[in-house]
Amino acid sequence: MIESSPPLDLNSRYAYFLLCDHFAATTAVAEGDGAIRGFLGGYRPPTRTDTLFVWQVAVGDSARGQGLAGAMLNDILQRPENEKVRFVEATVSPSNEPSRAFFKRFAEQRCAVLEEGPYLEATDFGESGHEAETLIRIGPFHDAMNP
Ligand SMILES: CC(C)(COP(=O)(O)OP(=O)(O)OC[C@H]1O[C@@H](n2cnc3c(N)ncnc32)[C@H](O)[C@@H]1OP(=O)(O)O)[C@@H](O)C(=O)NCCC(=O)NCCS
Repeated sequence: MIESSPPLDLNSRYAYFLLCDHFAATTAVAEGDGAIRGFLGGYRPPTRTDTLFVWQVAVGDSARGQGLAGAMLNDILQRPENEKVRFVEATVSPSNEPSRAFFKRFAEQRCAVLEEGPYLEATDFGESGHEAETLIRIGPFHDAMNP
């Protein structure tokens, strides 16, 4: 599913297994009709445990536009392990409109400020043709248990 969700980078199966195991509290997999329909992989950065960093979020083509990405994010934020989370961060590429719209909508729903600043330049990715990645930070939202 990640492979067919450009512009996401496909990582190794091993990396996804580790994320789902070691960071299970901040990761969600949505299933339907026996297949994976959505994935949100994230973690709390060790020096900023009030923050959920969304590493990758993807919803399969046929399930888009139905609130699945938002449902996975809200599900993670409502877990007891994440009750102290007050910020959501993610990096987005400038041309990824669905992703930008998704995080903007999330900020609106939480009545939270969305700040955006530079993070990685295109040149940081060498000759791969990868776009720049800007850092989005949303928050603080006051009570993660009651969006
Ligand atoms: C971004 C992505 C995860 C959104 O998944 P989704 O389940 O369709 O998103 P949701 O239905 O939860 O949408 C929530 C809000 O995001 C916005 N949004 C989502 N997709 C959008 C699109 N294609 N165009 C414009 N706005 C969009 C809408 O404002 C929507 O709220 P609304 O329905 O109340 O207007 C999905 O498009 C995807 O997998 N894209 C490819 C991978 C990717 O770019 N991931 C993000 C970078 S890590």
